[in-house]
Amino acid sequence: MHTYHSNGSRLSTCVILICYLLMGTHHCVTPPKKDSCLVKDGKADCSHLRLSAIPANLPSNISSLDMSHNRMVRIPPESLKQYPGLLHLNMGYNSVTKLNEPFCLVLPLLQTLNMVRNEVHLLKETDLSNCTSLTWLSLASNRLKIKGEPFSALKSLEFLDISNNNLQSAKLGSQPQMPSLLNLNLAFSVFTTLKKDDFTFLRLSPFLQVLNLSSVPLKSLEPGCFKPIAGLHAVIMDGSNIGSPVISQLCSELGETSVQSLSLRKMKLVTLKNTTLSGLQKTNLTFLDLSQNDMTKVEDGSFQWLSKLEILKLSDNNFKHLNKFTFRGLKSLKKLQLTKALVKTRSTPIVDDFTFQPLGALESLILQRTAVWEITEHTFTGLVSLQELDMSWSSYASLRIITNKTFVSLAGSPLRTLNLTGTAITRINPGSFSHLRNLTVLLLDFNFIQQTFTGSEFEGLTRVEEMHMSNNHWKVKVSSTSFLHVPNLRVLTLGKSLNNSAVNLDVDPSPFKPLTNLTFLDLSNNNIANFRENLLEGLINLEVLKLQHNNLARLWKSANPGGPVLFLKGAQNLVTLQLDSNGLDEIPRGALRGLRNLSKLYLANNLLNSLKDSIFDDLVALQVLSLQKNLITTVKPEVFKAPTSNLSVLLMDKNPFDCTCESIQWFVTWLNETNLTAVPDLSDQYMCNTPLAYFNHSIMTFDTYPCKDMVPFQALYIFSSTAVLLLMATAFLVRFQGWRIQFYWNILISRTLGFTNRDGSREFQYDAYIIHAEDDTHWVERVIVPLENNNCSFYLESRDALPGMPQLQNIVDNMRESRKILFVVSEHLLNDPMCRRFTAHHALHQVIEESRDSVVLVFLQDVHDFKLSSSLFLRRGMLRSRCILEWPGHKERLQAFHQKLLIALGLTNQFRM
Ligand SMILES: *[C@@H]1O[C@H](CO)[C@@H](O)[C@H](O)[C@H]1NC(C)=O
Ligand SMILES: *[C@@H]1O[C@H](CO)[C@@H](O)[C@H](O)[C@H]1NC(C)=O
Ligand SMILES: *[C@@H]1O[C@H](CO)[C@@H](O)[C@H](O)[C@H]1NC(C)=O
Ligand SMILES: *[C@@H]1O[C@H](CO)[C@@H](O)[C@H](O)[C@H]1NC(C)=O
Ligand SMILES: *[C@@H]1O[C@H](CO)[C@@H](O)[C@H](O)[C@H]1NC(C)=O
Ligand SMILES: *[C@@H]1O[C@H](CO)[C@@H](O)[C@H](O)[C@H]1NC(C)=O
Ligand SMILES: *[C@@H]1O[C@H](CO)[C@@H](O)[C@H](O)[C@H]1NC(C)=O
Repeated sequence: MHTYHSNGSRLSTCVILICYLLMGTHHCVTPPKKDSCLVKDGKADCSHLRLSAIPANLPSNISSLDMSHNRMVRIPPESLKQYPGLLHLNMGYNSVTKLNEPFCLVLPLLQTLNMVRNEVHLLKETDLSNCTSLTWLSLASNRLKIKGEPFSALKSLEFLDISNNNLQSAKLGSQPQMPSLLNLNLAFSVFTTLKKDDFTFLRLSPFLQVLNLSSVPLKSLEPGCFKPIAGLHAVIMDGSNIGSPVISQLCSELGETSVQSLSLRKMKLVTLKNTTLSGLQKTNLTFLDLSQNDMTKVEDGSFQWLSKLEILKLSDNNFKHLNKFTFRGLKSLKKLQLTKALVKTRSTPIVDDFTFQPLGALESLILQRTAVWEITEHTFTGLVSLQELDMSWSSYASLRIITNKTFVSLAGSPLRTLNLTGTAITRINPGSFSHLRNLTVLLLDFNFIQQTFTGSEFEGLTRVEEMHMSNNHWKVKVSSTSFLHVPNLRVLTLGKSLNNSAVNLDVDPSPFKPLTNLTFLDLSNNNIANFRENLLEGLINLEVLKLQHNNLARLWKSANPGGPVLFLKGAQNLVTLQLDSNGLDEIPRGALRGLRNLSKLYLANNLLNSLKDSIFDDLVALQVLSLQKNLITTVKPEVFKAPTSNLSVLLMDKNPFDCTCESIQWFVTWLNETNLTAVPDLSDQYMCNTPLAYFNHSIMTFDTYPCKDMVPFQALYIFSSTAVLLLMATAFLVRFQGWRIQFYWNILISRTLGFTNRDGSREFQYDAYIIHAEDDTHWVERVIVPLENNNCSFYLESRDALPGMPQLQNIVDNMRESRKILFVVSEHLLNDPMCRRFTAHHALHQVIEESRDSVVLVFLQDVHDFKLSSSLFLRRGMLRSRCILEWPGHKERLQAFHQKLLIALGLTNQFRM
């Protein structure tokens, strides 16, 4: 892509093609095709338009004009004259060959000029002489040939890029100039020598800080070449392949400057000699980058000169062996970056015991993606300031099984972060981290840990606040005691890690119970199907709970034995809850109760269909609600009005909406009216599934107007149908249960009118008044009469009626003298006119006035209730069940019948309803 195409569109096609090949389609966003300049906020973007002239129709007050990627061959002052307020002009990627026109005269305010990748050749003294306001100038990738002092007028220039111009010399002038310069980029120049007076033109530029000489193939530096710019802070020599002797020279020359940062990347420096950097001894160098050098060897004491160095980057090298002299003298080093610096080729690199001992100030040691033979009891000894150790994605045999010896060399370090991501750990033995008492963050993601944590593994980690154990291949098991020793935990991730065997989370007490400070818990992607209601008990600080991709459908089913498991009860301060992809088809009432802080609720990819009314009502703080890809057909206000009242984002696309008035009218009306809530993809992902007329139409095409016409009719319909139903119910009630109403009504009336219950302890002459038909006399004499004795006597009309007394008087008096009235019910009795008229009537009065206990029915035959009521005005339902007896007929049950009869007769008449 270094060749320049004057045809901008061919260039962009090429960019897109390469991008496509590198990243796949997703990341390639084609620059929007435009056929005229875009003007916004005073900036005009006229790039990629194949223009050969500056458009004349732009607003005259623009401050920025981008003309890059066009076909300009000159910078025409006559056109630019219209835009005198221009501060920024980008002419990059054009075909300008000369700057010989006075465009700066018409642009007196111009601050930045970008001429990258043009064809400017001769640069004369007068070309930029009127550009006195420029602070930023790039002439990179042209074909510059410098004549005279072309930059001498640039009094304000701070940044000058003239890289990639095949410059034969670093000397851009002989007069002192550019007094404000901060940054000079001479990368990709071809000069091989830095002469003593090359930088004298910057003699009076006291602010110069950065000098970029990347890929300049220097062969020699004359002594004192940096003297004119001794205030320099940073030198970049990346990719210059200059070899150790020249680096050595460079360092000696820089030794006379105040350089603080030196970048020596990609220099094919195979061995670092112990004298190469010696020239830097006098400096205060704090930053040195030696990455990507394929270095295999660092001689002992190579860094001894750099006692002020704070950051040393040695990434992407190939060291075979580090020993206790390698880092000698780096007593101020705070950060050592060794990412991919020790890699396994034929042999595994070796790091000796005490290698890091000289680094007493080191705070951060990055050993990412390294391979080392082993970690011994002294590997990290002496790192008394170490706070962060990152060994992620490394391959150390010693990390397979972590024991209490593995990190014993860190016992004296105030380590706070230990990154063991992707280090192939299979087991953590008890007490493994017990020496790391100041550890607050422990990362164990992407390992193969296969064990049940009993708690002793984390002994001593009393300060740990974050433990990440996701992606451990579903081999981790937890128990009630797992987290007993980490009471300060705030973040715990166990996604894609928990073994889904029957008893894992389903323990009592919950494994998380000791973690009262927990704010973030990730249990996602575990296929968990079961746990107890107390899983989150006491987690009052829990804010984020990730449970997506599990199998929790059964826990929330109302048909679950023991009822739905309302496990969120314990975590009332949740802010974010993720429950996507759980197969949920129900949200039980109370499942989300009390979650007044919940602001994000994710329920996508479930099977939710009809949601119960009010289930979301407590979610007063809800901001994001996601219900994508469910089976929701109906969006009713009873469910959704509360949660949508304050919502910022609603995600409910890809549901099979039912586009009828009752299902969706409210929703469509709300969508039309809401301006607080964003509903992405509303026009093309919210489709009607039913009825057929609307199938596959956007729900926004649903016309709610006809629904409104129906409202009065609907009310009328509801009213009339309710009235009819009520009437029918009353009719049925009266028809079938009217006697009962009447009966209890009578009882109530007699109570209120003062027929007080006669005293139960009153003396009666008889225990029972026996009513029977003539034809049943024989049965009465055989069964009832034998029950009489000293304590018990009956009144039998046929036997005890006083002769001479009127029959009715007899009945009235003796019934009053009897505690109970006993009917011997048979077909004969029902046909007896005397019974029907008077006896029964009176008995009924007794029942109403006294008590439901005072009448006992003995059935000799099965008699239908209807017949019973039509002849005796009594029903079974009026009496207590124990006052209704059936004559068994069988001899064996006779005893039981007698017993029941006595109980029925022996009861007091106390009315108990
Ligand atoms: C523009 O530059 C010319 C020399 O090229 C000079 O004579 C003239 O004074 C400058 N004008 C301004 C306004 O700086
Ligand atoms: C290094 O720093 C010290 C103290 O900050 C300062 O006195 C000294 O001049 C510096 N040396 C150089 C070469 O910049
Ligand atoms: C550099 O190493 C050589 C041998 O490898 C040794 O003789 C010499 O003393 C070392 N120089 C310094 C300054 O450490
Ligand atoms: C731990 O290492 C992983 C992988 O290199 C990295 O992505 C992550 O940012 C590191 N975490 C910390 C806290 O250093
Ligand atoms: C390591 O654990 C073993 C038992 O597993 C124990 O005997 C030993 O004392 C422990 N060592 C340290 C340094 O804690
Ligand atoms: C742990 O931190 C405390 C202060 O936070 C400090 O006093 C203690 O020395 C540290 N422990 C180690 C082993 O450095
Ligand atoms: C929890 O956090 C509070 C406040 O940050 C702190 O005082 C307490 O010690 C922590 N630990 C436990 C176990 O509560």
